[in-house]
Amino acid sequence: MEILKIHGGNILHGDISVSGSKNAALPQFAAALLTSEETILENVPDLSDIRFMGEILEHLGANIERVGKNTWRIIPTNLHPNAPYELVRKMRASICLLGPLVARLKKAKIPMPGGCVIGHRPIDLHLLALNEMGAQVSLNQGVVEVDGSSMKPTSIFIGGRHGSTVTGTANAIMASVLTPGTTLLDGAACEPEIVDLCTMLGKMGAQISGIGSHLLEITGVEKLHGCKHRVIPDRIEAATYIMAGAISRGSIRVHGMNPGHLGAFSKVMKESGVLLNPVADDIISVSTDPNGLKPFELITLPYPGFPTDLQAQACALACTIPGLSILTERVYPSRFMHVPELLRMGAEVSLEGASAIVKGGKVLNGAPVMASDLRASAALILAGLVSEGETWIHRIYHLDRGYELLDEKLKGLGADIERLPESSLPPAFRSPTD
Ligand code: EPU
Repeated sequence: MEILKIHGGNILHGDISVSGSKNAALPQFAAALLTSEETILENVPDLSDIRFMGEILEHLGANIERVGKNTWRIIPTNLHPNAPYELVRKMRASICLLGPLVARLKKAKIPMPGGCVIGHRPIDLHLLALNEMGAQVSLNQGVVEVDGSSMKPTSIFIGGRHGSTVTGTANAIMASVLTPGTTLLDGAACEPEIVDLCTMLGKMGAQISGIGSHLLEITGVEKLHGCKHRVIPDRIEAATYIMAGAISRGSIRVHGMNPGHLGAFSKVMKESGVLLNPVADDIISVSTDPNGLKPFELITLPYPGFPTDLQAQACALACTIPGLSILTERVYPSRFMHVPELLRMGAEVSLEGASAIVKGGKVLNGAPVMASDLRASAALILAGLVSEGETWIHRIYHLDRGYELLDEKLKGLGADIERLPESSLPPAFRSPTD
């Protein structure tokens, strides 16, 4: 087990590059199962979640090979429909396999994803879409079994009470691309990761219109082909670096990103006094208003609203800004596991319903803290960068699921951050349960 040790106080300067998007790449691995031909995916981030997905595809019978650091070749010739519980339980995104397996094999058996620390994450909308298309869906001993032998095109409203579903939309799209006739998906997610999936499917021969909107029209084709596709840059990673620059009150340039994917995040940052200036199409410079940053309010919403995947990091940033900031979760109302850890570092944050009320401006103190999930890990790192003394972050395997070399990249900006074996810590600082 490894930990991160951060000595806070360094102001970040310099250049940092963004990797490919985890949440775009994962459904694209699933989409490769829609054909028996070869798919090449480029700019795939080197992450444990991606390697899990690779293992699941291999288990399903695909021939899958990492042919370069960030390039994978997938040839799914002898597929079978049963996904293994031991692998699926490690990663919720494996539910994305449902659509492609049903489309290609007319059946799928996928263990129901388990609990999740960021809140209740049902899959009712994924199943609703398949049901409405005429698939028979049942749950047997914790395994979702789908018989898609009589699927037909239809019109589906796929939105839920928290708005659109990202992987649910991906599943519904992938289930319908090989179903003859025209399927209408209303209330579809329009995240850049869904647009990128549709772009890849288009290269494979799928017919999808309305891409990027909440209404998708999918005309099923008989067969899809292999393709070569480059995964989009990770917008959540890019925004995490922007906040790393801002929290240290430094001046950095973020390379290889798509500024057009930042949505409401850039508005909140600009209102707070974070200066974002384009340097080139895929580079922005980040600095902060010399008069200081202002507290902010944000509400997480589906794209182009403020992403829930940036709320924890924004909470850390708010802790350093004098005044009251209010962060409200509309996507995962209980995604505040980072808050008790920030309190250990001296932050003043109270939780009221689905809002975190941050009284910022107090000096943070380094402490041993525990990462509870991917984005909480990033938030604790940001807080550690500006804390007095040393911060030790435990359970960083969460971080390695979704950020490629985050600690190394921040080191390149001047952060004092080290990855160490937990055994190197004095016993008093070791995690009680790891
Ligand atoms: N929801 C339902 N029923 C469903 C599906 C979703 O009620 O059948 C609800 C969820 O409980 C939530 C909301 O709808 O309140 C949105 O969930 P969504 O389905 O969009 O989430 P997801 O597809 O499971 C993806 C990302 C998450 C990200 C969310 C929201 C991937 C692999 N995961 O999850 O990423 O937080 O969208 O944007 O794309 C992360 O990267 O750290 C992460 C958790």
